Amino acid sequence: MPSPIRVTDFSRIVFFTGAGMSAESGVPTYRGKGGIWKEYDFESCACQEAFERDPDHVWEFHNYRRGLVRKCEPNEGHRLIARCEQVLPSVTVVTQNIDGLHQRAGSKRVHELHGSLWKLRCDRCGWRDEDFSAPVDDLLCPACKALAATTPRGTPVYKRPGIVWFGDSLSGSVVQASCQALDASDLMISIGTSAVVFPAAQLPVVAKRAGATLVEINPEDTPMSELYDHCMRSTATEALTELCQGLPSGS
Ligand code: APR
Repeated sequence: MPSPIRVTDFSRIVFFTGAGMSAESGVPTYRGKGGIWKEYDFESCACQEAFERDPDHVWEFHNYRRGLVRKCEPNEGHRLIARCEQVLPSVTVVTQNIDGLHQRAGSKRVHELHGSLWKLRCDRCGWRDEDFSAPVDDLLCPACKALAATTPRGTPVYKRPGIVWFGDSLSGSVVQASCQALDASDLMISIGTSAVVFPAAQLPVVAKRAGATLVEINPEDTPMSELYDHCMRSTATEALTELCQGLPSGS
């Protein structure tokens, strides 16, 4: 049955996105058929312990993923969300995705709950970088390396991907900004998340308590489906095309 919802009937919209949002761009999801965690073991490549044990292996995995995502383009769904932000009063993206495709499609107000594949940091000296284009060939922190060259006892340390790995805490400021947007929303559209990773999976409850209309877009049921007023069992681009009917064209 077609959804009776149109984004143009709402003024404060939050798009809450997961890996299924980028599936039609060719980015593999984490779970289900072809999911990353079917092929890779997160305990050896996506947690702090693995990084301390074998940073080269962890970087091999992340450079592989950076290479893969770099070849992908935002899909029509990403573009529709970006257009919503251009033409509607208040639109925020709260995403679990680390691929940067919302920003590449033109979305400006994006809260990345799980960090970004394109951010790098050093936990020892605070150095940070965000470079979409380059593979990370030199794994050492440049600031620590420069210091080590002038200090006899200094040792350079590895750069760390700016991603929230298993066992890491989410950034307090990102969670706060996300909750503020959800609390103020009148429409919350969840797209392509299995809703099994906490605390992110719990965030739509904030919008529900605030009285927003909740829409879930996912070809499959999720453990959170009952929370939603409308469930659209189709892909991100199909469902967004329907919800965005009548949206004025952007600049
Ligand atoms: N359109 C919409 N949804 C889709 C599509 C599509 N084209 N293709 C797949 N999906 C749905 C799947 O049915 C599934 O429910 O997307 C969901 C993807 O689920 P996950 O792979 O578990 O991704 P996500 O929910 O984003 O994972 C959460 O887990 O490993 C961590 O940090 C990682 O941020 C990630 C978190």
